[in-house]
Order: sequence, then structure tokens, then C-alpha cells
Amino acid sequence: MPTDAKVALVTGGAKRVGRAIVERLASSGYDIAFTYLSSQEDAHDLQRSLEVLGRSCLAIRVDLTDPEHATAAIEEEFHQAYKRLDVLVNSASLYLGARLAKTDLELMHKLHAIHVATPVLLCKKFESPLRASNGKVINMVDLLAERPWPEMLSYCASKAALANLTLGLAKELAPQVTVNGIAPGVVEWPDDYPEAERQKYLKRVPLQRAGTPRDVANLVHYLATEGSYITGQIIRLDGGRSIT
Ligand SMILES: NC(=O)c1ccc[n+]([C@@H]2O[C@H](COP(=O)([O-])OP(=O)(O)OC[C@H]3O[C@@H](n4cnc5c(N)ncnc54)[C@H](OP(=O)(O)O)[C@@H]3O)[C@@H](O)[C@H]2O)c1
Repeated sequence: MPTDAKVALVTGGAKRVGRAIVERLASSGYDIAFTYLSSQEDAHDLQRSLEVLGRSCLAIRVDLTDPEHATAAIEEEFHQAYKRLDVLVNSASLYLGARLAKTDLELMHKLHAIHVATPVLLCKKFESPLRASNGKVINMVDLLAERPWPEMLSYCASKAALANLTLGLAKELAPQVTVNGIAPGVVEWPDDYPEAERQKYLKRVPLQRAGTPRDVANLVHYLATEGSYITGQIIRLDGGRSIT
């Protein structure tokens, strides 16, 4: 059952970093809507666990590589459940690698759809409730947006577009809404990431550890609750990787 609580909408919230964001916001009193695509079991498990905590939780299954239909479905389901929106977190992502030779338009369109078009359309559809609540938009960018890898050419470019979009939206939605990006280094390894590569990366991180989903969730929580004079910033969350 919905309550009078503040409401957060998180894309890609069923597992990994998105789930940590959902759990952090829910534990501090937000009702939640989150999207998922393939992680149905995780989504239902998360929904049940938040409801046990007394929070309202709506899980919406959408494919964000089709942003027009997906965001229309999110808008419709969201408004059936909630009357306000306080925090929008764009976290859903496709971590797809391809060098130039393997890069094609289909891949570029998919990455643009999920990392750029979806956040734009969600801001457009939810502009009014976000302004009404002095809302916060938080976009999950990536350190690779400013340090591109040729192996992840289109992924990096789409995240760079998201970083730029964050700045544009911050101007557009001011003064009622703040819009910021979080650019993590590693905060949760891809499942199949080789141990030797992990150690190589960590040697270049001054804080000598990978970050955690909880590190991200705490920053999201800060931006959502305390960071009301911060807008148009891309905050690196990388243990110092970007200064080495
Ligand atoms: N992990 C890191 O160390 C790291 C580093 C830098 C930046 N980031 C950024 O931080 C955010 C969260 O990271 P993460 O590692 O947790 O991300 P992730 O696991 O790569 O993806 C998050 C979720 O996106 C959803 N998703 C994928 N394709 C989708 C589609 N077509 N339609 C709808 N949803 C889709 C998936 O939902 P389902 O599972 O339900 O299919 C997935 O669980 C991402 O934006 C990522 O780029 C993460």
C-alpha cells in the first residue's frame, strides 16, 4: 500500500548497484518504484523484502532499449501507484564491449537508448512531479566517460553523452530540481572479470580496494537528502583512480 512517504524511481534496481540504491533509499523511508528486465526472481524477492519493512514497492518490467514504449509503461504504472516523485535514479545499463571493428549501428542505438534516451524521456515525463517536490535526478555515469577504453568504444561514448546530458538537464530543471551524475570506477566487478585484471586495476587505486554498491548507495542517499546545493556535477567515486 502506498503511504505519504517520499518516492524514488530507480531503473535497473533488481540487483547489484541498483538494488543497493533501492535498499538504501527504502531503509531511510522512501517508497520505491524500480524497473528490471531479466532479473524477475531478484525483483520479486526485493519487492517482498521491502514490503516486509513496511515500504511500498512497485516493480516494473520494461526493456529500456525501446525507450519510447518502456518509459510510457513506466509512467502509466507509476502514476497508478504513486502521486509524487522525489528522486529519479537512472542506473540501468548495458556493459557491452566492442572495438571499432565490431561496432555497428545496432549496438550504438541500444547503448544510446538505455544510457541517454531513457533518462531524457523519464525527465520529460516526470518533470512536473519532480519540480513539485524539489526533486533530485541522479544519473549513473562511469569514470570511463572521461577515460575511454577502445574495447568499450560505444559504451564510453554513450556514458559521456549521459554526463553531458546531466549538465544540460541541471540547467534546464533548475531551480526546483537538482541533477547530478555519479561516475564510479569499479564498485562491483562484472561476474566474469579475471582475477589478474582485478589486481592490475587495484594497483592503480590509491585507496587499494574496489568500491562497493553500498558506497554508491550512500552517495545517492546524500544527494537525495542533504545535497540540495549541488547540481550539474559529475562526482567521481573511484578510490582516487582518476588521480593516478
Ligand atoms: N559496477 C561498476 O563497477 C560500475 C562502474 C562504473 C559505472 N557503473 C554504472 O553504475 C550503474 C549500475 O552498475 P551495475 O554494475 O549494477 O549495472 P549492470 O549490472 O550492468 O546493469 C544494471 C541493470 O540494468 C538492467 N538492464 C540491462 N539491460 C536492460 C534493458 N534492455 N532494459 C531494462 N533494463 C536493463 C539490468 O536489469 P535486469 O538484471 O533486470 O535485466 C541490470 O540488472 C550502471 O549505470 C553502470 O554503468 C557501474
